[in-house]
Amino acid sequence: MIIKKLSVKNIRSYRELSIDFPVGTTLLSGDIGAGKTSILLALQFALFGLQPGQKGASLLRQGEETASAKLLVEIDNEEIEIERSLKKSKNGSITQEDSILRIGKESFELSTSELKNKVISLLDYPKEFAKKSDLLYKYTVYTPQEGMKEIVNERPETRLDLIRHIFGVDRYKRIKDNSQIFLQRIKENIKIKEVQIKEINNLREKLVLASEEKIKVSKELLDYSTALEKVSFEKKELKEKIDILKQRLEEKAKIDIDKSKKEGELQGKKALKMRLEREISSSNLQLTEKRDFKQESLDNITLLLLKHKRNLEDLNQRFTEASAKVYFLESQKEISLKLKEKIISMENCPTCFQSVANEHKDKISKKAQFEIEDMQRELEQKIILRSQLIKDIEREKEFIQKYEQDKITLEREKIKFEHQRIIDTKIKSDMIVLDRTNQEISLLEFEITSLTSQILKFEDAKKIFEQEKVKLDLIDLESRKMEIRLAEKRKEVEMLKKQVEQIGIEINQKENIREQMAKLRGLQDWLEEKFLPLITLTETNVMITLRRDFSKIFNEWFSTLVSDSLSVRLDEDFTPIISNQDYEIDYDFLSGGERTAVALAYRLALNQVINSMLSRLKTKDLIILDEPTDGFSEQQLDKMRDIFEQLDVKQIILVSHEQKIEGFVDSIIRIKKDGTSKVESIK
Ligand SMILES: Nc1ncnc2c1ncn2[C@@H]1O[C@H](COP(=O)(O)OP(=O)(O)OP(=O)(O)O)[C@@H](O)[C@H]1O
Ligand SMILES: [Mg+2]
Repeated sequence: MIIKKLSVKNIRSYRELSIDFPVGTTLLSGDIGAGKTSILLALQFALFGLQPGQKGASLLRQGEETASAKLLVEIDNEEIEIERSLKKSKNGSITQEDSILRIGKESFELSTSELKNKVISLLDYPKEFAKKSDLLYKYTVYTPQEGMKEIVNERPETRLDLIRHIFGVDRYKRIKDNSQIFLQRIKENIKIKEVQIKEINNLREKLVLASEEKIKVSKELLDYSTALEKVSFEKKELKEKIDILKQRLEEKAKIDIDKSKKEGELQGKKALKMRLEREISSSNLQLTEKRDFKQESLDNITLLLLKHKRNLEDLNQRFTEASAKVYFLESQKEISLKLKEKIISMENCPTCFQSVANEHKDKISKKAQFEIEDMQRELEQKIILRSQLIKDIEREKEFIQKYEQDKITLEREKIKFEHQRIIDTKIKSDMIVLDRTNQEISLLEFEITSLTSQILKFEDAKKIFEQEKVKLDLIDLESRKMEIRLAEKRKEVEMLKKQVEQIGIEINQKENIREQMAKLRGLQDWLEEKFLPLITLTETNVMITLRRDFSKIFNEWFSTLVSDSLSVRLDEDFTPIISNQDYEIDYDFLSGGERTAVALAYRLALNQVINSMLSRLKTKDLIILDEPTDGFSEQQLDKMRDIFEQLDVKQIILVSHEQKIEGFVDSIIRIKKDGTSKVESIK
């Protein structure tokens, strides 16, 4: 990395500043308090921001609210610009604002921590320096003005820790510490595993016992199963037999029903037979005399009766007519008689009131007499006729009466005859029924006999059925018991199987644990016997090499600065040991210039060793020294020229009051403070 340009605003004594840095050795010169260190602090701030413990007030110009530092650098031929700023809040605290990073033409706005990580990666600093980013910078690039002697004056263990940290040797300690923790865990783990596998032999014995038991019980299970199969077969056969018997019994029951039905029928038929016989004999008793009846006779009498009744009607009609005629003639005769007498006794005509002549009277009387006589004759005839008719009527009535009588008699005969015929028919039909009933009785008796003989065949079926049923019940009970026993055995086998499996699993687990334990023991041995000694050896070797190289370079730089009579080396704690040929001189007894020389040589050696060990660091081309020559003699100042040459660094930025130094450098930037700091001149 090469510093190209720094611009600041409100940093310490500066209100505004912009400096271009050339390559080669540049001297920042100026009076005390001119603002030289402020430039170096601004550079550090631009690169890494505020450091832990560094206050914003040490950078923000007093009385100002904001400050900024913009740094242009070149890394691997690429220009990178970093801009950071500070801001004072209302409560007076000063904080860092978000920052800007420009790489080439690209620009990124980043948070403070993002920028820190980015700069660390751009400078190729190891990641473990992310938290203490300035540490490498501090010992390889810029040691603050008073900090150069710090490391030399530190307590040995602190210095050693610092050096181990800077050179990454503390990683071996971390490795060892972690390995010890790891080892401890392994040991604890092994102890736990030892307890865990303790039971393995017992388990093996248990497994053998359980396996034997399982085989035994499995065999028993098989025996039980075979026995049950046999019993089941017997049971099946018995059931089939019983089914057949049951069928036979059902058949018998059917025949029984049939038989009792037939017996019932037979009883009915026999009762019918008796009733029929009784009825036939009683009917026979009713047929004492033989009745004869002819319908023809009855029909004839009926016809005669009808004829005479018509006759009678006719006679009655004629009689009525004759009687009416008699009555008419009698009344006509009466009227005529009365008229004749009236005319005879009549003197005057009732119509013309003239006197009636006797002659006329005789004439009319005679005529009336004739008519009366005619009437009398006809009357007599009619009376005779009427008498005759009365006789005829009487005679007809007698006929009718007689025929009625005959008809009644015949009809009675007919009824009796009909009755006799019905009884006869009934006897005949009863006889037929009786005959049929007799046949049916015989058939039924035959059938009953046959059914009885059939039933006899089933006689022992019931007994056998009962016996077989008892047998089946027994077998059933036995098979159920066997099934229970079988289920128990099955369960037992299952349990034993599970037990064997479980023990097997446990043994496997314990075997695995044993294997893991063996691996862990191997790992423990390897860690204790190989790895940790190797790390310790490596660490020791690294430290020896580091100390040797460091010591050598330290001595070379020191020799360059100080007369040949003094030499330096580093002891175990990297404490500088100064020797004057035969004896060692305590650092505190050295002169001010010698102490500065020790500090500068230590600082330069540190820088060189770090840069050679961590060759990838992008800051190895830059070194910044703030007042490195404090207390140097003229002679020592002269040696600085050799130092700059030997350093072989592309860019050296140096702060010094020494006039002499100006002669060794490539450029001089003069700083002047007049209220605010300014660049006075650049040469
Ligand atoms: N926050 C600040 N605001 C304003 N001025 C400050 C602030 N902090 C320090 N100063 C002053 O800035 C001036 C420059 O200080 P700086 O440390 O840069 O001086 P220098 O040139 O390195 O001096 P020396 O040669 O003595 O080391 C000093 O006068 C110092 O008191
Ligand atoms: Mg200073």
